[in-house]
Amino acid sequence: MQTFATKKKELFPDATSRRIFGLIKREMGLVEDEFERQAQSNIQVISYLGDYLRASGGKRVRPALLILSSYAVGGRGDADPVIRLATVMEMLHTATLVHDDIIDNADLRRNRSSINSRFGNQTAVLMGDWLYMSAFETSLRERSLAILDILTKLTRKMTEGELIQLTMLGNLSITRAEYFDILERKTAYLFAGCSEIGAILAGAGRDEQTAMREYGMNLGIAFQLADDLLDITAEREALGKAAGADLLEGKVTLPLITLIERDPALKVVLEEVLLSGMFSAEVKDRLNDAMLEHNVIDEVRKVAAGYAEAARKSLDVFPKSEYRTALDEIPSFVIGRSS
Ligand code: IPE
Ligand code: IPE
Ligand code: MG
Ligand code: MG
Repeated sequence: MQTFATKKKELFPDATSRRIFGLIKREMGLVEDEFERQAQSNIQVISYLGDYLRASGGKRVRPALLILSSYAVGGRGDADPVIRLATVMEMLHTATLVHDDIIDNADLRRNRSSINSRFGNQTAVLMGDWLYMSAFETSLRERSLAILDILTKLTRKMTEGELIQLTMLGNLSITRAEYFDILERKTAYLFAGCSEIGAILAGAGRDEQTAMREYGMNLGIAFQLADDLLDITAEREALGKAAGADLLEGKVTLPLITLIERDPALKVVLEEVLLSGMFSAEVKDRLNDAMLEHNVIDEVRKVAAGYAEAARKSLDVFPKSEYRTALDEIPSFVIGRSS
């Protein structure tokens, strides 16, 4: 079978992320092995695509979150069910990315061609479906209705998030409430599911489970806010996906909502970009200047920092441990990341 070993850049270049992921290095290795097993199929095309997706990497934030949550509650984060569910979360996430790239017509993902651009939309739809269903099949092995309940609900919410987002494309009058509703559904519920399932597998009580769910929810919101900021501030090479794409895709994110609030006259300029589907150098400069003048990036960073702080607060109920410390550091890692 063909593999896709590529020269990978260091995914976690800074000390904080190395500390967080270093703590569960062995467990993350087990997740990679499980993912490899799950992506194997005697249907050649599935093995091929599974390998393509698995080998392209990704930060693996969601499985790490599930494993650390399990440990922080006093469970064994390297137990088979924990590794299996951590892998399920990464498979669900991968499925959403494969479908998201069709929806967004994106060519690049994790520094290589997206499945849709390389193999076509038809293949990408089916591979996304296969990943969803394989993830559910694996999760059934736990025979846990509580876990299945969380997984089915969050998967439905992710789809709803993408659907609502479609109805809002190009809408410069989108409100903060509408924006946050989309963001929670498309990103934060999956994060909440990771930390809550980690807690359930560790035998957590109701209060601990709730605290972990709230931690994940706030972390997930901060994560997507950071993603929306990076779309504006980062370069394509660092991101491994297109930069400056949100507005061209018609997505009016919090930085733009904030900008319009501060300078409503810019709405006409933004409308022009949406209509033509491109930025001229002149328009780009004008928008960048206005962002600077109104301190938009800092302001959105502050909003993200607020959610990061709220996430950290939820951890107070857990006993002090190196795992709790790692969870405590994830929110600032997430908003300070560069990819
Ligand atoms: C990308 O998620 C999709 C969003 C929710 C913004 P990640 O940034 O976790 O993607 P990978 O897995 O590291 O590529
Ligand atoms: C991310 O939405 C949410 C998903 C469920 C995939 P985006 O469209 O902003 O994600 P990227 O920027 O393509 O990774
Ligand atoms: Mg996208
Ligand atoms: Mg994005």
